[in-house]
Amino acid sequence: MTQETTGTTDMTASATGNQRKVFIKTYGCQMNVYDSERMGEALASDGYQPTETMDDADLVLLNTCHIREKAAEKVYSALGRLRDMKRERAREGREMLIGVAGCVAQAEGEEILRRVPDVSVVIGPQTYHRLPEALRRAKAGERVVDTDYAVEDKFDYLPKKERGNRPKNVSAFLTVQEGCDKFCTFCVVPYTRGAEVSRSLNQIVDEAHRLVENGVSEITLLGQNVNAWHGNGPDGTEWGLGDLLFHLAAIDGIKRLRYTTSHPRDMDDRLMAAHRDLPALMPYLHLPVQSGSDRILKAMNRKHTAEEYLALIGRIRAVRPDIAMSGDFIVGFPGETEEDFQATLDLVEKVRYAQAFSFKYSTRPGTPGAELEDQVPEDVKTERLARLQALLTRHQREFAASCVGREMDILLEKPGREDGQLIGRSPWLQSVVVLGGDAAIGDMVRVRITAAGPNSLAAERL
Ligand code: 5AD
Ligand code: SF4
Repeated sequence: MTQETTGTTDMTASATGNQRKVFIKTYGCQMNVYDSERMGEALASDGYQPTETMDDADLVLLNTCHIREKAAEKVYSALGRLRDMKRERAREGREMLIGVAGCVAQAEGEEILRRVPDVSVVIGPQTYHRLPEALRRAKAGERVVDTDYAVEDKFDYLPKKERGNRPKNVSAFLTVQEGCDKFCTFCVVPYTRGAEVSRSLNQIVDEAHRLVENGVSEITLLGQNVNAWHGNGPDGTEWGLGDLLFHLAAIDGIKRLRYTTSHPRDMDDRLMAAHRDLPALMPYLHLPVQSGSDRILKAMNRKHTAEEYLALIGRIRAVRPDIAMSGDFIVGFPGETEEDFQATLDLVEKVRYAQAFSFKYSTRPGTPGAELEDQVPEDVKTERLARLQALLTRHQREFAASCVGREMDILLEKPGREDGQLIGRSPWLQSVVVLGGDAAIGDMVRVRITAAGPNSLAAERL
């Protein structure tokens, strides 16, 4: 599934038409970032301009995350603040609509309207192409909940022409697959995002071309279970993600490809071949394992053992020795003993992740994990998480330090903080700060890494 970002992203819709303004706040994973951009576009064609602040927004839309309890709670506290803002506005005779989109909308539906009477629209991840219609009804005084699994394909209904008038991005997300059939026992995704669905090759290729025309040269393919992507090739044969990557790598203007998030069970030979043969496919792989204990992996319904996961990484490293691994971990799944936790630490020692995300288990209503006895006390979870994170952080620092002195290509993405500085990405997804000289955003430049900080690398151009 997609990786949850630690912060939140504020993003805004594209501008056309009259004076209505929308502020979109994005919580959670990259899929939500992508969805917010699409919603922004749908609203732009409906006359909503973007705004950077809530204060002057006619519409505030929260694109929400339900993955852990904390993520869902954040939404309700934000809604509390918005309710106050809306009431204050009403006293000044100004209107403000509040909409809730994304996974909390999908999971809680009507409940949101019941808990927060000031919310006008609740719209799920599968129906956001109907947002303009929902807003028209809301403006007429209706309170709208639309969390169907739409029979029509939302991607067919979204504006096609341009990816808005926003500043051009060098790097963009492209959703190729949504939903999940894996049913890990801790996870709400199969319930909020529904069954696994792949977009067609044509849709994906069209969107990739549009991105390139808009100045994008790095595309990250997104899916909750992206390596389960499947479709038909131009000759009608069944294709998997590996074939798709080969196909996209041949598009003129695409310099870099990435994909996230993968399940270990879906790493097939063709995908391995893509890692071996495609210079455009970056040597970085987010492959969550969650736990290093076979007993816990089984209880989580992960469908593989620790040994199988390690063997898989061995095969990937054999074809692409410089690949950097990234992972997700859950500590304190019900029944996890100190010995199970130790097995996770052992696995981490073996893999040495360049990047990792770790969480305390959070019981999610409706998932099988919530029904299990033997829930782990909060203080034990806290203590285990601290130990795991200390180890992961040490490895991350060691990986960054190992880059010092190395030469690499970085793709310049944005200006740095100081004059003349530009920030680019290494093949391993690190931020690299460099004096730009004659180079511009969007260029790929050769650099030598001179220093490693906690969150970025410093480099000099060659
Ligand atoms: N509790 C804690 N972490 C979870 N994740 C998913 N569901 C839960 C949960 N109930 C984590 C997994 C997943 C990442 C995106 O979020 O590690 O890979
Ligand atoms: Fe990922 Fe498992 Fe959740 Fe599917 S059920 S999104 S594989 S964690």
